[in-house]
Amino acid sequence: MDMQSHAGVDLDLLEDVLAQYQGQRGALIPILQKAQDVYGYLPPQVLQRIARSTGVAVSKVYGVATFYAQFYLQKRGRHILKLCDGTACHVKGTPVLATALEDHFGVQPGQTTEDGALTVEVVYCLGSCALAPVAVLDGQVMGRMRQEMLVRTVQKQVGAAGGEEV
Ligand code: FES
Repeated sequence: MDMQSHAGVDLDLLEDVLAQYQGQRGALIPILQKAQDVYGYLPPQVLQRIARSTGVAVSKVYGVATFYAQFYLQKRGRHILKLCDGTACHVKGTPVLATALEDHFGVQPGQTTEDGALTVEVVYCLGSCALAPVAVLDGQVMGRMRQEMLVRTVQKQVGAAGGEEV
């Protein structure tokens, strides 16, 4: 496991959460949720600490954390862009959008920019196929996206850093 990329995680911040659920059975999911609220994701040392505290096997803690889509095991950016690559969106140009993001921000789907500003995630059908291709930036749904518009919107949201002028 690569501890290097998860350096700087302060386990003390977890103590309140663990104390709150001390001795409660079946509290693993709420503990994971609160831990993710604290750290933004679930680093390996946090999962190990939760396992020790709850008495649940580390493998089971990992199993639960990877089973639920709400949990993230990798660090996420301060801004989250979701690109829909369901059939309708794919046909209407999601691959072009993904290429534009890579060209301008150096980030591929599933990755986070080195400065931690932006994470790009792929989702499959948001139920808005009539608006394809659809992207969601920090929870805001944007339909009929074109590459210039997407790059400009992301640049504006993320700030000047991390993108070239279009
Ligand atoms: S395929 Fe993208 S919203 Fe349905």
